[in-house]
Amino acid sequence: MNNWNEGYVTDIAYTNGWYRQQSPAMMALACTMGGVAMTMPAPDDSIHVLELGCGQGYGAMVLAASNPAWQVTAIDFNPAHVAAARAWATESGLTNVTFLEANLATLAEDAAGRQIPEADFITMHGVWSWVPQAVQNGIVRLVRDKLRAGGAMHISYNALPAWGPAIGMQRIIREAGKRLARRSDRQAEEGLTIVRSLLAAEAAQLDRSPFVKSMIGVLGNADVAYLAHEFMNEQWKPCFMADVAATLSDARLEFASSSQLTENFPTLMLTPAQQKIMNTFDDPIMREMIKDTCVERALRHDVFVRGARRLGNAGRDAALMDIVLGLNIDPDDLPSAVDMPAGKAELNSKFYRPIVQALSQGPMRVRDLLALPEVEGRRDNPAELVGMLVGLDIADVVLRPDAPPSAGAMHFNSVLAKRFAQSESLARPVGLASERAGSGVPATVLDLVIMERVRDGKPDMDALLHLIAPPAEHTDKMREGLDRSLRQRMPILRRAGVF
Ligand SMILES: C[S@@+](CC[C@H](N)C(=O)[O-])C[C@H]1O[C@@H](n2cnc3c(N)ncnc32)[C@H](O)[C@@H]1O
Repeated sequence: MNNWNEGYVTDIAYTNGWYRQQSPAMMALACTMGGVAMTMPAPDDSIHVLELGCGQGYGAMVLAASNPAWQVTAIDFNPAHVAAARAWATESGLTNVTFLEANLATLAEDAAGRQIPEADFITMHGVWSWVPQAVQNGIVRLVRDKLRAGGAMHISYNALPAWGPAIGMQRIIREAGKRLARRSDRQAEEGLTIVRSLLAAEAAQLDRSPFVKSMIGVLGNADVAYLAHEFMNEQWKPCFMADVAATLSDARLEFASSSQLTENFPTLMLTPAQQKIMNTFDDPIMREMIKDTCVERALRHDVFVRGARRLGNAGRDAALMDIVLGLNIDPDDLPSAVDMPAGKAELNSKFYRPIVQALSQGPMRVRDLLALPEVEGRRDNPAELVGMLVGLDIADVVLRPDAPPSAGAMHFNSVLAKRFAQSESLARPVGLASERAGSGVPATVLDLVIMERVRDGKPDMDALLHLIAPPAEHTDKMREGLDRSLRQRMPILRRAGVF
């Protein structure tokens, strides 16, 4: 431990994650879906994106590599994170991302803070409920000073009441871990072992909660760095959405919408009886609190705006009609139904199949998708189309549909391949840079490794198997995985302009 870390874990670096909710395109889309006017960044716009608590900077770099005209400033107080991020950016040839080593508790008042230009978009993933109030207060002052009027901020946090039953679990992990090991990743592992044995011994406060039980199950596969940063911080505190909204109102921020787009549809989230109760309120904060009371979702991804310009339904739909979407899946993988908190939601194949087929040819505007002659169903409801396709990760916004694959983004992806192929599992999700998309394109490390080979020529299966060298007993399974990636994933990445 040291005296600069505000009780936050600094003895082991955090994992490298990419999260689609952090992209300005996603923030702008979420605002529009929530009926708040937010212009989608145009192809040649030069915008400034600020990331608070950026870890080793992977997400910030994907944005910078995908948008050479943007400026990205990413801040973290852990010098090991900042040093790693700067080295990675240099290796990737990125000149439009700046990594700043600074404490968010005081940055607003520092000389370095005063030099940060006004931001159009701010994102902060996995920070708020893990840091003490003094840091949260510093964040609010920084956002008040730096987010331009009309700008948007994405913030994720561990939400109450979903996390409520697991507060005791976190505390036991931390208290036991501190007594059993020195480094925080070892502490988290030891603490988790104690929690597991308590659960096996039917400790009532763990055993009675399905949320706690499922979480303990999932944590078995988690990265130890994630465990340390999730559970070993001194001031970890899940939050009620109403409290986050009240605190951010000091920076004159208003809640716009959830960037998990499906969460904005009460019919997908709540039973009819629950919706009836929600509908007795028109205050958006109260409606969110009712939602949080009804669903078992522990991490919120919210978008707030500074100076909301409210759109009516007609204005919202007009804005959505001009959004360009690109397909993330093979059209044959379109699900016929999906599990949502309110139950199964059907995806009418007469409506969605022709749309997905058309998108398999390349990015298209929502307006043109809804005008396809084969489409049967409501052509006047772009919010549902966008909410379902983007909300279910079937499609994403495409900022520059005509942009060819760029050398800069491809170089970033090559560096990523070199780094991740050595250290990460092949199934690990990644975001790849693409100027066409203007944000990360979802893929796996396996896709990335194969893409690098495909780019250099047409690799045969044996060459790929030789490269990946799976254990003999997994060769057949790997062959299937490679075949699927070559047939399905490579066309998707080409369409998204990744290569
Ligand atoms: C859970 S990690 C999330 C990292 C990254 N946003 C991600 O999602 O991968 C939280 C990050 O916040 C940083 N952090 C914590 N307290 C901070 C503070 N007071 N000032 C600046 N950064 C801080 C940590 O070093 C860490 O990188």
